[in-house]
Amino acid sequence: MEKVSIFDTTLRDGEQAPGYSMNLDEKLRMALQLEALGVDVMEAGFAIASPGDFQSVKAIADAVKESSVCSLSRALEKDIDASAAAIAGAARPRIHTFIATSDLHLKYKLKISRTDCLRQIRRAVAYARNFCGEVEFSAEDASRTDFDFLCKAVETAIAAGAGIVNIPDTVGYSTPDEFGALIAGLIGRVKGIDKAVVSVHCHDDLGLAAANSLAGVKAGARQVECTIDGIGERAGNAALEEIVMGIVTRRDRYAGVTTGVRTREIAHTAKLLSTITGVRIAPSKAIVGANAFAHESGIHQHGVISNAQTYEIMTPESVGMQKTELVLGKHSGQHALESRLKDLGYDLSPERAADVFAAFKDLADRKKQITDRDLVALAETRVASKGSAAREWKLDSFVVNSGNHMSATAQVTLRRGNRVAQDAAIGTGPIYAAFRAIEKIIRHRFVLEDYRIEAVTEHRDALGEVLVKISDGKGSYRGRGVSTDVIEGSIFALLVAVNRMLETGR
Ligand code: KIV
Ligand code: ZN
Repeated sequence: MEKVSIFDTTLRDGEQAPGYSMNLDEKLRMALQLEALGVDVMEAGFAIASPGDFQSVKAIADAVKESSVCSLSRALEKDIDASAAAIAGAARPRIHTFIATSDLHLKYKLKISRTDCLRQIRRAVAYARNFCGEVEFSAEDASRTDFDFLCKAVETAIAAGAGIVNIPDTVGYSTPDEFGALIAGLIGRVKGIDKAVVSVHCHDDLGLAAANSLAGVKAGARQVECTIDGIGERAGNAALEEIVMGIVTRRDRYAGVTTGVRTREIAHTAKLLSTITGVRIAPSKAIVGANAFAHESGIHQHGVISNAQTYEIMTPESVGMQKTELVLGKHSGQHALESRLKDLGYDLSPERAADVFAAFKDLADRKKQITDRDLVALAETRVASKGSAAREWKLDSFVVNSGNHMSATAQVTLRRGNRVAQDAAIGTGPIYAAFRAIEKIIRHRFVLEDYRIEAVTEHRDALGEVLVKISDGKGSYRGRGVSTDVIEGSIFALLVAVNRMLETGR
């Protein structure tokens, strides 16, 4: 079996997509989960882009042990210097350097000749090799590059020391037959190609990113660049889960190749990304969407009950999608809860576990059936905050009063360690009034940038999941809260965000 390396760029190309930006702690959490998923390489960021990007790449490089950690750099010495410094502590460092090769980009973006481009490739790759044995070169807009020139560019990179040559379909313009032929053509023509791994990097502007990537694999590519849930620039990148499950499910079409991905971690990884970024996975998203294994019509249900293979080409369990089960009730103990949370991928500190248990007991009094989805929602609101629990503001109690012919009022009591503080405020609605009261208690002003509310499960006693994003002018902080009461859920969510804001300012 030949291995197809999975190169995950969720934290670089994915994070470039609007709405997906993550702070250092969030990126680190995501990186550790990508490692648990078994990706071979993770692109942790673009070190030169900002001091924050540099710090995130460095923190990931220092923490991740099993996957290669890579930083993107233009074909410029200053970019490569930044990448090299950021990944210096990595167990398996990689520098990724790129330059556009299509005439369109050379003429209008870079304003350089083809000869200059080749010179820059040679210099950049050779320079990067001074810092690290694993150097990857990407020919941006490769699929729209003149084929003869692309061969020269790739040949130059390999001769200068690139061990991985990446062929991006940067604007998602290619079709599977065309892209497969491009990879086969390069493998047949470029001198020294046997010394390098050929990689593909496809975007989804025509919805063909995964198909093009798989065509690349069929033609001989042995690294695929992709992101969780296909997030990325514009319409996104190829989705990791689609490529991996394409190879696993269609062994007959991809005989002889395999990946190192632990497929049972796929759903948890996608869920974590959604939790961190606050962006929901589309219900119909292949493999990880809520409907990917749901069977609504009677004919389908009947078929699946008789034999799941009638309408399921892979099992939900194989990608870690557990069927919603009734797991725990009001008589369950902390041990049972912790063990279930462990199964769901949450290894909480004793302090956080006690916190989740208290919330679970409270929920069990109000909601008859507590499902895995409820537990995940409860756990997520607790793992989001990283500071010491003793320094965090917690909700003690609240009273709101609102109606259609009056201003809403809220009285909120918070606790922080042994301190109890109370205040009241008026607002245009009960949630706004409660937020104003909290602002007065914590003596910090913030701007509410985003507020969303969704039901976690289907029934009348469903948990409401609230997402808030606040900013204090220096940074943005997200919080998530769940409760059967939307006002309480909103206060929980705001307190997570507030505690993060205060922790960052300390
Ligand atoms: O899409 C692209 O061409 C890229 C490169 C930087 C690899 O993201
Ligand atoms: Zn890209």
